[in-house]
Amino acid sequence: MSRGLLIAFEGIDGTGKSTQLPLLAHYLQEQGYTVVATREPTDGPYGRQIRALYYDRHQVSPERELELFLLDRRQHVDLCIQPALTRGDIILTDRYFFSTAAYQGAAGCDPEDIFKRHDFAPQPDMVLLLTLSAAESVARIRELRKESVNDFEQQEQLEKVAALFASFAHECIVRINADQPVDAVQDSIRRVVRQLITAKRMGCTG
Ligand code: TYD
Repeated sequence: MSRGLLIAFEGIDGTGKSTQLPLLAHYLQEQGYTVVATREPTDGPYGRQIRALYYDRHQVSPERELELFLLDRRQHVDLCIQPALTRGDIILTDRYFFSTAAYQGAAGCDPEDIFKRHDFAPQPDMVLLLTLSAAESVARIRELRKESVNDFEQQEQLEKVAALFASFAHECIVRINADQPVDAVQDSIRRVVRQLITAKRMGCTG
């Protein structure tokens, strides 16, 4: 295998990405694959600056906010994603550049321009786009996580983000209905990932 596999989990907040990704990672590891589980925003310096914006996005302009996500992603690609792809690993990332096109697109930036500014980022082999209504997403954040919604998670904003995610027509996107029990969502995810691995004829080491 000259190149590994890059699989991104995408969707609005509350869709269950952070629950589903470790379940898939565990399953693939049991099959003998080397898996790198990662996320954006990262824990690097730009990711930390981004997290500081959760409760007051208006500290910075939409353009500066976009720049911070781009800087964070460049580091993520250079330090984590590209080396893992070169090693032949399976990388599972909780969010990737489709989040930027959807969230910063909803904040007023041009989604097409955002895609163009990602020529440095490897194309994912598959994007698992978890779909859920914005109303259900906000209800989950409030009720299940017992948290108040942050500045990226206001319902009106999430409606716009969800509409942009729905408009993306890239071939690598597989839509998964997230309005189902955890196990049912995981089953759907495993089915399409197994198909992807078979299609790429990726041998496991274990
Ligand atoms: P989230 O996945 O909730 O991260 P965590 O739970 O680890 O803090 O992402 C944080 C927020 O950042 C989320 O509301 C979406 C937003 N975001 C963007 O606006 N653009 C991006 O490019 C990314 C990666 C995230």
